[in-house]
Amino acid sequence: MQKNKRTAFAVRSLFPILLLTLAFAGVQSFAQQPQPQFVPQAEDPDSYPDAPGRDDAFYACAGCHAFRLVANQGLTRERWDETINLMSERHGMPKLEGKDRELILNYLAKTYPPKAEQNRGFQNPFLKQ
Ligand code: HEC
Repeated sequence: MQKNKRTAFAVRSLFPILLLTLAFAGVQSFAQQPQPQFVPQAEDPDSYPDAPGRDDAFYACAGCHAFRLVANQGLTRERWDETINLMSERHGMPKLEGKDRELILNYLAKTYPPKAEQNRGFQNPFLKQ
C-alpha cells in the first residue's frame, strides 16, 4: 500500500516534467527545420524600367555597386549630373562624357526623378490643390 502510494506520487510529479521535455524536444526539432535559403539574385538591366539609355546606365553604374543603389535615389537632373561627377572624382569611375553621358543622364533624370514628385505622401483632403 505504502509502496503504491509512493509510485503514484512519483508518476504524478514526473508527468509534468515528461510533458515539458517532450514539448521542448518538439520546439527543438521545429527550430532545426531547414530555414529558407537566401538566394542572391544576379541583377540585370531588365529589372529596371525600360527607356533609352537603360542598358548604358546599368553597365556604367553596376560595376562597383548594385544598380539598386542608384535606382533607390530620386534626384533632379542637376543632382544626377553631380552624382556622375562625384563617382568619377571620388570613386574613380571612368569619366562619362559626350553622347554617353547625355544618354545616361537622360535615363537617370527621367526614370528616377525626386521622390516627392512620384509619391507625395499624405495629402490633406481639406486643402484644395
Ligand atoms: C568606380 C566605381 C563606381 C562606379 C562605376 C559608380 N559608382 Fe556610385 N558609388 C561608388 C562608391 C565606392 C560608392 C560609395 C559606397 C557605397 O555607398 O556603396 C558609391 C555610391 C553611390 C551612390 C550613393 C551615394 C549616397 O549618398 O548614398 C549613388 C547614388 C551612386 N553611387 C550613383 C552612381 C551612378 C549613377 C553611377 C553610374 C553613372 C555610379 N554610381 C557608378 C563607386 C562607383
